[in-house]
Amino acid sequence: YDSGECSYCPWTNHMQYPDVSLEIMKAGSVLRKAKSRMWRGHRHYKLQDDCKTIAYKSSWAMNSYSTFSVGDVEAVREGHESDVFLSVADEYPPERCFTLVFRGRRGNLDLVAESAEEAQAWIRGMQTLIENLQSMGESEKLDQWISDLFLKADRNKDGRISFKEVRRLLKLMNMDMNEDHASSLFRMADKSQTGFLGSEEFVHFYKMLTQRKEVVELFQEYSSDGQTLSHCDLEEFLREEQLEGDRSQEHALELIQRYEPSDTAKANHTMSIDGFLMYLTSADGSIFNSEDQRLYQDMTQPLKHYFISSSHNTYLLEDQLKGRSSVEGYIQALKRGCRCLEIDCWDGSSGEPVVYHGHTFTSKILFKDVINTVAKYAFKTSEYPVILSIENRCSVEQQKVMAQLLKDILGDMLLRTTIDGKVPSVLPSPEELKGKILVKGKKIGGLESLDADNPVSGEVSDEDDSSELRRDSLTTESLPSDSKQSLTKELSDLVIYCKNEHFNNFEHARIHGKPYDISSFSESKARKIIKEAAADFAQHNARQITRVYPSGLRTDSSNFCPQDMWNVGCQMVALNFQTAGLEMDLNDGLFSQNNRCGYVLKPEILRNSEQQFNPDKPQDRKDYCPLILTIQVISGQQLPKVNNKVGSIVDPFVRVEIYGLPADQATQETSYIENNGLNPCWNETLEFAVHTPELALIRFVVEDYDMATKNDFIGQYTVPFSCIQSGYRHIHLLSKDGTSLRPSSLFVNINITEAS
Ligand SMILES: *[C@@H]1O[C@H](CO)[C@@H](O)[C@H](O)[C@H]1NC(C)=O
Ligand SMILES: *[C@@H]1O[C@H](CO)[C@@H](O)[C@H](O)[C@H]1NC(C)=O
Ligand SMILES: *[C@@H]1O[C@H](CO)[C@@H](O)[C@H](O)[C@H]1NC(C)=O
Repeated sequence: YDSGECSYCPWTNHMQYPDVSLEIMKAGSVLRKAKSRMWRGHRHYKLQDDCKTIAYKSSWAMNSYSTFSVGDVEAVREGHESDVFLSVADEYPPERCFTLVFRGRRGNLDLVAESAEEAQAWIRGMQTLIENLQSMGESEKLDQWISDLFLKADRNKDGRISFKEVRRLLKLMNMDMNEDHASSLFRMADKSQTGFLGSEEFVHFYKMLTQRKEVVELFQEYSSDGQTLSHCDLEEFLREEQLEGDRSQEHALELIQRYEPSDTAKANHTMSIDGFLMYLTSADGSIFNSEDQRLYQDMTQPLKHYFISSSHNTYLLEDQLKGRSSVEGYIQALKRGCRCLEIDCWDGSSGEPVVYHGHTFTSKILFKDVINTVAKYAFKTSEYPVILSIENRCSVEQQKVMAQLLKDILGDMLLRTTIDGKVPSVLPSPEELKGKILVKGKKIGGLESLDADNPVSGEVSDEDDSSELRRDSLTTESLPSDSKQSLTKELSDLVIYCKNEHFNNFEHARIHGKPYDISSFSESKARKIIKEAAADFAQHNARQITRVYPSGLRTDSSNFCPQDMWNVGCQMVALNFQTAGLEMDLNDGLFSQNNRCGYVLKPEILRNSEQQFNPDKPQDRKDYCPLILTIQVISGQQLPKVNNKVGSIVDPFVRVEIYGLPADQATQETSYIENNGLNPCWNETLEFAVHTPELALIRFVVEDYDMATKNDFIGQYTVPFSCIQSGYRHIHLLSKDGTSLRPSSLFVNINITEAS
């Protein structure tokens, strides 16, 4: 090809050939935005030359383009993979359809191209762009960030920026800087003395501006020559501060290879200050031990010994009364590693069961579409079993349809019998059930009658979770007074290891309970039991699985604190995944370990059904060994603005919250720093006693102090105590939605000692 002609993107130039898809995207296409049957607009979409921005305008708009960033797009789906396309499936051929899925909670963009070829170009092109962004190394990401800033600052687009533009940029960057200081930095960076900064000079300015005094001091403390860290220096640092002494000297060499940007330093086995900062801000320098991010737990224990990431009313995207139902809820939950989905099934008008929140105005979706979605997405993020918690409200006829759809659509994935064909004395493990989809629901009789002839249909008592849910919900009036319901054998037969069983009391469950019984409790019932008999509850949960779901009064889809339930070993603590906030932060935090596979092995104290563990008296256990966690909150980096009002700069402070057993619940905070979101420095030490570290989660929250009103949330990060690394560590903050706020971070020093 003629390289002179080639206009492909600067950061994809490792590609041998210009990417045809990108060329088509840059030339632009008229795409239909599918929204509903009623409304669909034509728009012109094109990829900007920077390959980072998509511009679009309606065909009737004159020339004002709107834009979105390629970085905001999380994935592209081909064909009819969204609610909108499912609802208008007959109108557009799937080969012309695709969906852009955005990060966080922003809605999807469903597009229809003029031809299949054009759709393919956009699908492949977007995939290439997303992959390129994902594979960028830390230093490329930083360069990208700086060049984005430069583009933002350069308002008149003349390729250079004035001091006035710099001042405005500093505000954008959340920093209120003394004018003299800013101006002297500006002059230092303006090597060409033109009164403007070119892009290279700007990089220099940026580096001076964001220089990390605390990191330089640390570097110098360990550098024998004050200039570089030899690999022996680095080894000493790793041993003394990071407590990684057990790893050999190869570790230091490895880190130099991985993070040192200068080739000469690398060849000489030394690390420069740039490399040191790169290491500290990398995954290896993160507070979260990267070993624990891998699949590191034993996956061969019975299912009951795991916390299982679980969702409540998975089909709802909004509130519980009028909100929208969508297959998107299933996709999102599965993508987050959720392994227990809820499906509320009701008779549909055309003989096909539908899914929605009964007796409410929530919209309806087809059961078939839900199962198709599950089939497609079940094992994309985790290969461990998915449990479908089926709330069956259907007539006998439609139950048969449900059973048939489950079998037809899920095929071999659907678990149809016990794994060895025998009556189990203990639940199988996640390992044994890899790639399987289990149905949880009511069952006629037990597995003991596996071979015996069952009646075609049986009466099943309806005294379980679902009736309880309706009872404490606001919608009880319309419940039929007759609470007996017929369950078909077809559906009953699909329930293997997860049989809904009414809970009488612990004694009854101990004597009569089967390993595959599951009882469900509303949060209020669970809290009542925890208050009265926490130790018995924990012991019960070492024998069988318990599911806890939000109170029916939470019509706004708010969540309860899952920690109280995990403390007594409840396995399935079902949350409204669509609702961001503290509770989902805790859920995401707990399940961020073990390769986000959705299963976390419960601590030993909660797996032993012979010995009682009392969550109210952690000091009574034999191997009681409380720890002291000392956190020096040193500094923050590039905190985002909480609102875009020019001139509003945050006054940040850090709060550290411990979630765990009642004795471990604690919070402490630093003081706030006025007007500095760019590089606030706290240097404050917080100390906590942790009695049961294996159940504790640590949540770091940054807020904008406000004297008059409620403080604004800036970012947070939640990590299991057992996954924390000691030493100088960065905490990469997440938004309310759980998406990355890079390059926002906190810099801390962690010290964990045994309490004397
Ligand atoms: C951790 O704290 C203990 C007790 O204050 C102290 O003796 C020890 O030196 C500290 N460890 C590190 C690595 O700073
Ligand atoms: C290589 O490292 C040693 C110390 O480890 C230092 O004395 C020497 O100057 C370095 N050489 C170069 C070329 O950086
Ligand atoms: C914080 O501590 C570092 C290292 O000890 C020191 O350089 C810095 O001046 C301190 N900053 C503040 C604001 O106390």
